[in-house]
Amino acid sequence: MDVDKLKQIKDTALGEVNEAPDLDAVETLRIKYLGRKGLLQDVMKALKDVPDEQKAGFGQAANALKQEVQAALEERKQAVSGDSEQATADAFDFTMPGQWRGLGSAHPISQITDRVVDIFSAIGFTVAEGPDMEDVFHNFDALNTPPEHPSRDARDTFYLDNGKLLRTHTSPVQIRYMENNKPPVRILSPGRCYRRDTEDRTHSANFHQVEGLYVSERVSLADLKGDIAYFAREILGPEVQVRFRPHFFPFTEPSIEVDFSCHVCAGQTSSKGCATCRESGWIEIMGAGMVDPEVFKAVGYNPEEVTGYAFGMGIERIAMVMLDIDDIRRLYQNDVRFLKQF
Ligand code: PHE
Repeated sequence: MDVDKLKQIKDTALGEVNEAPDLDAVETLRIKYLGRKGLLQDVMKALKDVPDEQKAGFGQAANALKQEVQAALEERKQAVSGDSEQATADAFDFTMPGQWRGLGSAHPISQITDRVVDIFSAIGFTVAEGPDMEDVFHNFDALNTPPEHPSRDARDTFYLDNGKLLRTHTSPVQIRYMENNKPPVRILSPGRCYRRDTEDRTHSANFHQVEGLYVSERVSLADLKGDIAYFAREILGPEVQVRFRPHFFPFTEPSIEVDFSCHVCAGQTSSKGCATCRESGWIEIMGAGMVDPEVFKAVGYNPEEVTGYAFGMGIERIAMVMLDIDDIRRLYQNDVRFLKQF
């Protein structure tokens, strides 16, 4: 083997490398020339048979051959991989519509809660929150609930081993707020509540309320009725009728229950009847009343100086009525096929 032979190998190698169509072909050529059993190994082995006076020249030529082939392979590798990127880019159709994975939506409970909060925000209410785990004082005593009241029974309320309980309504949030803020007060307390109810179509041991409290120097039952009528029109439309019935709550005096006219049959119960309002034309929406002076005393307000109204409504109930949901349990099963309707 001599220098001319090396030149011939180099020319062939460079020719082949420059023709290699893709990365696989480049790799095959690298093995053929530079691999452990490649042509360059043969050249190196041949060195020992070269006559002494030609050894230096042959060695140099062999090194040059190796370097040039190496460089050419590297260059070709870049070129063909660049080509394949280009090919991918060319094949990508930027005008195709993207894949729409869909947005989630707010749970009906959150939707209704947000709506109620929005409506009352417009007349100056802000949101106050409190703990789900309450003490007996804030959940019952401060709310003027006598020791023998049935709602305090362990068959109705979840008492915890630490002496606390899971709040049965969000009224304790109002107690906490009044303890820490001077009047006037205008707050909404949305949140999760717990009662030992056996689950059925309309009961759940875990549900949500929004309660409202307005305390100032001269708040009257007329304010309560006016604000509730405003709320009714906002949430159900201008046609809705509102009915107030006397009731009893330990923490309000007088107490009322509020019904809205049925939005499905508009109170015009036909002979067929309307399932939503059970043919009565009315739907019970909330409890309300004027804050009992005993409650003001419990939080350190002077009942001679302030009056106030309070109301409370169950969110699940309103969601079921407004969205025509037949079973409260659907709101907790988290079946996306059901939830995505809203
Ligand atoms: N806390 C009462 C309940 O859970 C609702 C209510 C709130 C009634 C405020 C009157 C005034 O049933």
